[in-house]
Formats: sequence, C-alpha cells, structure tokens
Amino acid sequence: MLTEAQLQKYNDKGFLAIPDFASTDEISSLQKAGLDLLDTFDPKSISIFSTKDQTKETYRTDQYFVDSANNVSFFFEEGAFDDDGNLLRPKNLSINKIGHAMHDLVPEFRSWTRNNPKIASLLRSLGYRRPLPVQSMFIFKQPGIGGEVLPHQDSSFLATEPLNTVIGLWLALEDATVENGCLWALPGSHTHGIHKKFIRNPEDNSIAFSGELPPEVLEANGTDANTTVGGSKFEPIEVKAGTLVLLHGANLHKSFENKSDKSRHALAVHVVEGAEGVEYSKANWLQRKEEFPFEPLYDTCTKVV
Ligand code: FE2
Repeated sequence: MLTEAQLQKYNDKGFLAIPDFASTDEISSLQKAGLDLLDTFDPKSISIFSTKDQTKETYRTDQYFVDSANNVSFFFEEGAFDDDGNLLRPKNLSINKIGHAMHDLVPEFRSWTRNNPKIASLLRSLGYRRPLPVQSMFIFKQPGIGGEVLPHQDSSFLATEPLNTVIGLWLALEDATVENGCLWALPGSHTHGIHKKFIRNPEDNSIAFSGELPPEVLEANGTDANTTVGGSKFEPIEVKAGTLVLLHGANLHKSFENKSDKSRHALAVHVVEGAEGVEYSKANWLQRKEEFPFEPLYDTCTKVV
C-alpha cells in the first residue's frame, strides 16, 4: 500500500517514483519476454511503409495502430524504413515500442499485471474500485535512434467520463537517466484539465488530435528543455531499474532522445476505472473488439450473494 506521504506527494505533483517496486527476477522476465517478442517478429510482415501513395499509407498506418488495441504490434522509429519498406538498420536498433495488449495476451506481462498483489494494493490505495488495464507498451528507447517524446497527457489518448481516471504504471526495466532519455514531468500540471484529445473517426478509423497545449505549458517546457535551466519547469525522473513511476493521466510529461550508447527499456501499463458511473470514451482511439473486452484487475463493485 502507498503511505500517506506517498499519496500526498502523488496528489500534489501528479507523479510518484516508487523505488524497488519490481525484483531483479521480475525485471529479467519482463525484459526477456519483450526481447523474445521482437526476436520472433518479421518486419516484412508489416508492409505499411511501402507505398508512396500518401493517402493510402496514412490509412494503412492508422489501421495498423487501431488494430493494435487487440493484439501485439510492433512500432518502429521514424525513418527506420526506406521507401521500399526495408529496415535501414537491424530491427533491434530500429524498434520504438511493442503494444498494446500484452497485459492480456503475453503470459509474462499478463502475470506481472494481473497476478501481482503489489499492483492490486497500489490501485486499491488510490481508490480504484474496478481497475481496467487497457493498454501495455514495451518501450525500447534505443541508443542513437530512440527519439524525443513531446509533452503530452496520457488522458488525451484514454479518456474516461465524467471523471478522468487514467493512471500510468511506468516500470523502469533499465536505469533511466537524463542522458539516456528518462521521463520528465511537470509538477502540478494534472490539476489543469486535459488540453488535447486524440480521437478516432469510427467511419474510416482515421485518428487525429483536437485541441492545443496552452501557452503556459509551452513556456514551462523552456527554451533549453533538456535541462532545468532556460525556463524549463519539467523535472527529470531519474530512476534505477525496478522503480515504478506512477503518472496521473492529466500530468504533462515527456522524454528526450537517448544520447547514451545504451538502451532504456521500460514497461508502461495504463489503467482506467471501470466501475459503474465511469464511461470509457467511445471516441478513444483504443477500442476492444466485442469478443475481447477489457478485463478488470479486481472488482469490488460486484456484490457476492
Ligand atoms: Fe505518456
């Protein structure tokens, strides 16, 4: 369970690092599972970058992304493919992430998320009554190619109504440092609402942003955003492997490119409240097929008769 002091810190800042959350064995098992998935994946099976027809390419890319809500898909860094759809570098040095249903479909990720008393008690202490893990991502952040992630709120992608209930469980599988592209978060930013929405058009499955980040957020980003000087108010979250970082869905966070010569692997699982009275938005990009619904991690709402 979270202590009072930890809860207070999370509520004040919108993020919290919990050191030593996962054991060395848990980390190795998750990391191996991610690398094994990549090992067996044939990049040629996604010929989504091989057309020069921009409209068609956007459609197929969006479709691959939308489908990934229900399976295990592979996403590559920008510029990883040539015009004919061939990878320019080995796949392990070109991959950005794997997502988005490993927490249901891949035993190691499923077990860590669902058969993990630490996760359940964490969510209980945060007041979740019927938590639904909705997405999981194995993030590689490779040296040399692991690109910058711009400031964003996770709730932009996974809205619930009327309350915003998203929480990100971000587990460092390797040490995360300023040099290798650790998370940076803007303290208190979770109290100012959701600025942008990433919305799916159900007619053609195209997805697009609506809304803008307000000027004060861009200002908080600073002119020299890679350091705390230059006006940046974002805080670096440098953590050791095994640390779990909780990220409130409305917290603004980002990361820079990996400037080291080592990878910075992480596992992120996003959870929303699934209790009565909270609706998962139908406009969210991530929608499950009817036969593969979100599965609660536990359910304190159902009365046992
Ligand atoms: Fe995020």
